[in-house]
Amino acid sequence: MVKICCIGAGYVGGPTMAVIALKCPSIEVVVVDISVTRITAWNSDKLTIYEPGLEDVVKKCRGVNLFFSTDTEKHISEADIVFVSVNTPTKTRGLGAGKAPDLTYWESAARMIADVAKSDKIMVEKSTVPVKTAEAIEMILTHNSKGINFQILSNPEFLSEGTAIQDLFYPDRVLIGGRETPGGQKAIETLKEVYSHWVPEDRIITTNLWSAELSKLVANAFLAQRISSVNAISALCEATGADVTEVAHVVGKNTRIGPKFLNASVGFGGSCFQKDILNLVYICECNGLPEVAHYWKQVVKINDYQKTRFVNRVVASMFNTVSGKKIAILGFAFKKDTGDTRETPAIDVCKGLLGDKAKISIYDPQVTEDQIQRDLTMNKFDWDHPIHLQPMSPSAVKQVTVTWDAYEATKGAHGICILTEWDEFKQLDYKKIYDNMQKPAFLFDGRNVVDPEKLREIGFIVYSIGKPL
Ligand code: NAD
Ligand code: UGA
Repeated sequence: MVKICCIGAGYVGGPTMAVIALKCPSIEVVVVDISVTRITAWNSDKLTIYEPGLEDVVKKCRGVNLFFSTDTEKHISEADIVFVSVNTPTKTRGLGAGKAPDLTYWESAARMIADVAKSDKIMVEKSTVPVKTAEAIEMILTHNSKGINFQILSNPEFLSEGTAIQDLFYPDRVLIGGRETPGGQKAIETLKEVYSHWVPEDRIITTNLWSAELSKLVANAFLAQRISSVNAISALCEATGADVTEVAHVVGKNTRIGPKFLNASVGFGGSCFQKDILNLVYICECNGLPEVAHYWKQVVKINDYQKTRFVNRVVASMFNTVSGKKIAILGFAFKKDTGDTRETPAIDVCKGLLGDKAKISIYDPQVTEDQIQRDLTMNKFDWDHPIHLQPMSPSAVKQVTVTWDAYEATKGAHGICILTEWDEFKQLDYKKIYDNMQKPAFLFDGRNVVDPEKLREIGFIVYSIGKPL
């Protein structure tokens, strides 16, 4: 039986390995992590992350050929293939701080593999890493290898949160990069065999190592660029009376452009887009390409602009102050169908409103109060560095309440901000909400989920992203 071990039981490691276990009954898959809490949750009824369809998959294979463990050394040493799916956050200090990825977790995982390995292994980069990381990892492994043969493959993950299981079941493509040596090609074939259990052959792309590493960064940069492009146009639409939804529809009808990923929003969030673009920017700067770096940096700058623009619009339209006013925040996760709040635009919007002394009442169907309070007191980039976590500052969070009900959150509010496109926000009884709010009642739709005309008929003053007033 082929044995796979995955280091890192997070949003990628957990779902990816669960699907491999489901689709490959002849393979034993063990996911290991240094976080005891995470492993305990994966072994319980309340999995560590919320992801539609995940529970079903885990329940089918857990204890059969899928295991979650903290015994890292044992499972790495027994595995034929070791996936590394640890976090690769943006560095918060030192050389490249604020741009370069922090590869501390990566390096410690690689050193652990070198230390405990007793037999030949294929090591698979699942995390998103800078191009040329495999070279550094090879150095660590070969210098400590005691004669063991390691093959490094790059197999970046393209799943999106909220649709992870569907993305893993039916991927657009699986990418495997490896050395152009007989050993490298054999390793590629071994990993290809794993995916061939359910992914059609023509969807498995093989490349050299550097193309695979770089393709992942570029894929995310292109996706984020589309959002910043449409968001930049949303500002122009608001200024001119054009409607961004109509413009995006027309533009997307061109088959060379396509309709997906053109929804204007309060800004993109999530743990990867900003991190990966900054990573790309840093690589360009290090390679003496300042113009290319500048080009990609604009994608992040427009995203920051969009979040600031949203806050300014709320404050400006509510008579230039929200001091002492109750603002209801509907949705805190960075997108629907996930409880993940990493880099969610809601953090910046809430901080901006708190800066103007608003009282905030938040409702999100999947995010806990504890998580929200932590997010609002954390420094930029600290969210993915568990060791740097600061204790909560009580003064900052006094102005924030969190409820488990949209009607409770909006009761007595002067304004509402919709910050996540949860489906349930389309079906709320807005007449009931309006009746229980202060007047004039404002609604700022950061995701274009409500029909502004219908809400105006009720009496709301509605601002939607990129739409005429
Ligand atoms: P995550 O923070 O959810 O999970 C990472 C896990 O690795 C954590 O549980 C952490 O405790 C563990 N870990 C860190 N160092 C370890 C070590 N030395 N030994 C054992 N465990 C260790 O991160 P994630 O969202 O799963 O992302 C992982 C990687 O995948 C990142 O590089 C990210 O850019 C990339 N990625 C993420 C997504 C996504 O949707 N979240 C999608 C594609 C790619
Ligand atoms: C993204 C990519 O889509 C995945 O392919 C990639 O694997 C992943 O990053 C990663 O490397 O981590 P994810 O961040 O989970 O996936 O979610 P997306 O659906 O891409 O959404 C990202 C952000 O963009 C969200 O805040 C979303 O609301 C926003 N968005 C998305 C828009 O504002 N407009 C759109 O049209 C689409």
